[in-house]
Amino acid sequence: MRGQDQVIATLNELLADELSAINQYVVHAEMCANWGYSKLHKATEARAITEMRHAEKLIQRLLFLQGRPQVSAMGPVNIGERVEEQLRQDLQAEHRAVTQYNHAIRLCEEAKDHGTAELLRTILQEEEEHVDWLEAQQEQISQLGLPLYLAQQRDD
Ligand SMILES: [Fe+2]
Ligand SMILES: [Fe+2]
Repeated sequence: MRGQDQVIATLNELLADELSAINQYVVHAEMCANWGYSKLHKATEARAITEMRHAEKLIQRLLFLQGRPQVSAMGPVNIGERVEEQLRQDLQAEHRAVTQYNHAIRLCEEAKDHGTAELLRTILQEEEEHVDWLEAQQEQISQLGLPLYLAQQRDD
């Protein structure tokens, strides 16, 4: 099925952001593992895998619409040197994802491509959950203090 050029371009823009998110989160997850924060490692690794599934769905849809998936273009990757900075950078990436998916859904609806809009809506809900989880971590840090929060991240 032939997709509209604007929809295909938008899917490729979303794909670039997913690819940079995967890289950022994998590095953050492994830094946390290296520091011994195994709970943060697990949670961040799981989020990276979810982003990989998103990339997979976007690639499937691009091929379905007879578009060419662009996987060599990537958005910015922002690595935090400390846990708090990592959470801040990841939250920024997730806020951007929510904004971009909302924008893309509107564009697909205007182009009357409701099938693509439907797919993007399912991904958007997971990005919203990512925002919620990261906000909860920041809230825990502000309530518990950083040392106690980090102490709780050590064991499985
Ligand atoms: Fe994603
Ligand atoms: Fe996400």
